[in-house]
Amino acid sequence: MMNRKVSRNMGPDFIWGVSTSSYQIEGAAREDGRGPSIWDTFCRQGRISNGDTGDIACDHYHRYMEDVVLMRDLGVDAYRFSVSWPRVLPEGRGAPNEHGLAFYDRLIDALLAAGIEPWLCLYHWDLPQALHDRGGWTARESAAWFADYSALVARRYGDRVKRFATFNEPSVFSLLGYGFGTHAPGVCSRDALLKVIHNVNRAHGAAVDNIRSAVAGASIGAVHNYQQCFPASDTAGDRAAAQLFEQYWNNAFPDPQLLGRYPPLLAEGIADLQAPDDLAAIRRPVDWFGLNHYSPLYIKSDAGGVLGCGFAAPPPELPRTSIGWPIQPDAFRDTLLTVGRRYGLPIYVLENGTATNDRVLASGEVPDPDRIAYLRDYIGAMREAIAAGADVRGYFVWSLLDNFEWTAGYSQRFGLVHIDYASLRRMPKASARWYAELIRADRQQVVAGNTAARDGRA
Ligand code: FCB
Repeated sequence: MMNRKVSRNMGPDFIWGVSTSSYQIEGAAREDGRGPSIWDTFCRQGRISNGDTGDIACDHYHRYMEDVVLMRDLGVDAYRFSVSWPRVLPEGRGAPNEHGLAFYDRLIDALLAAGIEPWLCLYHWDLPQALHDRGGWTARESAAWFADYSALVARRYGDRVKRFATFNEPSVFSLLGYGFGTHAPGVCSRDALLKVIHNVNRAHGAAVDNIRSAVAGASIGAVHNYQQCFPASDTAGDRAAAQLFEQYWNNAFPDPQLLGRYPPLLAEGIADLQAPDDLAAIRRPVDWFGLNHYSPLYIKSDAGGVLGCGFAAPPPELPRTSIGWPIQPDAFRDTLLTVGRRYGLPIYVLENGTATNDRVLASGEVPDPDRIAYLRDYIGAMREAIAAGADVRGYFVWSLLDNFEWTAGYSQRFGLVHIDYASLRRMPKASARWYAELIRADRQQVVAGNTAARDGRA
């Protein structure tokens, strides 16, 4: 792996943060009136490694204060979390659950008291089961359900929260959940997938409007994963598959939301679902592009599959993380430049990080040199993209804590902080200290730079 130097500072307004999501860390799945989500159901269908579930997860619901202290010790500027829709609206709509709403009041207040800016994401995949039973995202009404939920959240927290994301990785939950069926709710149907894509886009537009009108000074975006899709081989079939997959994975959401059109290979299928004003209602002004990125993808043709294309293994010569994703920081730099050029918005990297096989030593230390190397190289690649003109305003590590990694359950550890799932004890890893030091040094350089400029030395 290349050794990139983390040098120059990022400027006084650059935001360093960490990210998590509700189902992956909160636990307390049946407590204080929370309703079930499609992930509770999926876990019970035996679809997760080791039969794991999010029932307890990191028990963040009870231990959030400890987690806020961990973040304060890291020195992060911001924390991106998601609100669990079924915790605040157990049926997905109708009567709110005051206990659930009060939990996020406590969390937000604790963050603000610690000097950490809350970044609130409305949807990180935990759709209320009650709404799925009414058709979920395949139902046209789903955009109105989400609009009402967004208004509830915006009104409740908008006095203290200004940063709102509508959806996390809409292409991942739609393709894996409704196309390949490997994520909740486990549906495999191209028709369902196209409906989901269009309704989630409509839900996004409606939520942007609701947040904007409820929250003075709101700064709004959506969080998209964007990964180059390389053909697994040079055959015409794999090349066509990669092109098609790219449009589903990278463009199906940001293109209509930001450019006002569907990518060409999807446009025809979606045309039948569209009412005349839909595209205008989807393309609402937003303030930034949230980017999640871990690696590029390798795509092959899959003639018998629902979509005609599917995931292939990365070339064997590439280094990989413990979850099997290739390590390619150059691709991150190129993605930042591509996204900046295509959509013309400031970018916040809202997820980047790696899974490693971490062990706690008898001394209590958790050495994770592979995570430090990954972060150093990816942050270095981000600096290269900025030097080449990308407008990147912030960077958030996935994740603060080891957590429930979807179908991999607890077998993959992405945290800066180790979780012992038996005791729920939190242990900052070596990478946590490394990241804290990087943030501290970056700020110091900013201060030194300012002083030099004032003294006419810069
Ligand atoms: C992203 C998800 C996040 C986490 C990381 C590893 O796709 O948004 O919840 O699972 O991958």
